[in-house]
Amino acid sequence: MVRERANDEYDLVEPRAPAMLESLRAFGYNIQTAIADLIDNSISAGAKNVWLQFYWDGSESYISILDDGKGMTEAELVNAMRPGSRNPLEEREPNDLGRFGLGLKTASFSQCRRLTVCAKAVNQNSVTRRWDLDYVSQTGEWRLLRSAASGSEERLTALEQMESGTVVLWESMDRVVGGTKTDDPKAHNRFLEMIEDVEKHLTMVFHRFLERKNKLQIWINQRLIEPWDPFLTNEKATQWLPEENLYFREDRVVIQPYVLPHHSKVDSQTYEKAAGPNGWNAQQGFYIYRNERMLVAGDWLGLGLQRDEHCKLARIQVDLPNSMDSDWNIDVKKSRARPPASLREDFKRIAKLTRARASDIYRYRGKVIARKYSDNYVFTWLKKLKHGKVFYVINPEHPLVKEALNIPTEYRQIIKALLRLIEETVPVQQIWLDSAVSSEQHSQPFEGVPAREVREVMMQIYQALIKDGLTTSEARSLLVKMEPFQHFEELIATLPESTY
Ligand SMILES: Nc1ncnc2c1ncn2[C@@H]1O[C@H](COP(=O)(O)OP(=O)(O)OP(=O)(O)O)[C@@H](O)[C@H]1O
Ligand SMILES: [Mg+2]
Repeated sequence: MVRERANDEYDLVEPRAPAMLESLRAFGYNIQTAIADLIDNSISAGAKNVWLQFYWDGSESYISILDDGKGMTEAELVNAMRPGSRNPLEEREPNDLGRFGLGLKTASFSQCRRLTVCAKAVNQNSVTRRWDLDYVSQTGEWRLLRSAASGSEERLTALEQMESGTVVLWESMDRVVGGTKTDDPKAHNRFLEMIEDVEKHLTMVFHRFLERKNKLQIWINQRLIEPWDPFLTNEKATQWLPEENLYFREDRVVIQPYVLPHHSKVDSQTYEKAAGPNGWNAQQGFYIYRNERMLVAGDWLGLGLQRDEHCKLARIQVDLPNSMDSDWNIDVKKSRARPPASLREDFKRIAKLTRARASDIYRYRGKVIARKYSDNYVFTWLKKLKHGKVFYVINPEHPLVKEALNIPTEYRQIIKALLRLIEETVPVQQIWLDSAVSSEQHSQPFEGVPAREVREVMMQIYQALIKDGLTTSEARSLLVKMEPFQHFEELIATLPESTY
């Protein structure tokens, strides 16, 4: 029975246990996000190994998740089973993946009606607690049982051989295998496919943990899973655009945009695998990591940008600390994040730049490039970070800058001094203030300028490139990859075959 007391000042209204527990099932997890939520807990508990066991037996199928983390004492376990075991407003350790004090319960109940947890802390005996939704429903009380269901004890014995750890057992998985028979081949197949989906999801969201030596190993039915790198960082043809650091209060957000290789630049197996669990188109955009755990696997974050086939090679890595959770609207499932209003313009700018680059590569422009200019875009300005402060320098590798400095020393000193002066006096404050008022008021490079003038500047660079040993077609291809001439392709086509 629900106890309700009252005095003159207030009514005491406790949540009704059966209704509340049923509602906790409706957070919108799927099996992949639910299991990932449990592995978050294992990682926060310092686990080096997580062993997932999927056992098929029709409607009696079960899943267990065992880790070798620090485990829990009896008091800790009882508290861990409490919905709302910790206040979301509390500060967390910098490497804690939790926030709401709910995940263990909400993730588990989304998939099963019986959640049993057995934990062992160092030098302690193992302890067990169980939520059984049917029992809570019958009794109408928040009764946390002190033992495993009869017949299930042997599913929890793995801990006995271990110093410390935790095993979470899901039984009575009505949402996954409800009403199925053990010998139903279709149902069995669905179960096996589900295991594959889980594997794909885990290789993605935990890839940073799995990539490091001695960090984390996840086993599915005794098989070790391999990380999936969304950015193909080991491929030479992947483009790394400049990293940016944005600040929100004193917290730092690190953004690394990538443009993945055109499909002709990698072998077909690599390209296919790089698509990711949801496919190339669905997996473009921002990848948001919180303490290295991926929350968002490719999304334009409601910035008004469409998913577009042409932009599918754009993938942008964003790293957040766990101190910004409420600013980023992190949800319990850890599958949503939205940038705070003050960072949206920056995100949009970075997204647009990366999309433009990706779209160029998608259309396979600029394919014949002299090796020494590699496959990367040429920027006029570079952003640098020193002692936590941002400043901008003119790219000394820019072909026009190199050409301008290719003069007798006494003149070179003058040009160098001039460039230095420009770099030191970039009116950052003024630009920042102006763009805070309206981002639309800034003109784009060469906006409203007669084509003749654009071509004059372009021609100087073109000549410098040819002087540097490039063929005319190589020089043109490079101009297409050079800021801001990628927007002036028609003009590039009018450049002469001979510059003499
Ligand atoms: N595998 C585990 N090993 C050790 N302790 C655990 C484990 N799983 C859960 N706990 C403990 O139980 C608590 C409750 O876990 P739960 O997932 O419900 O909430 P949380 O991780 O604190 O926050 P969130 O709701 O954001 O996941 C954790 O804070 C942790 O102390
Ligand atoms: Mg958790």
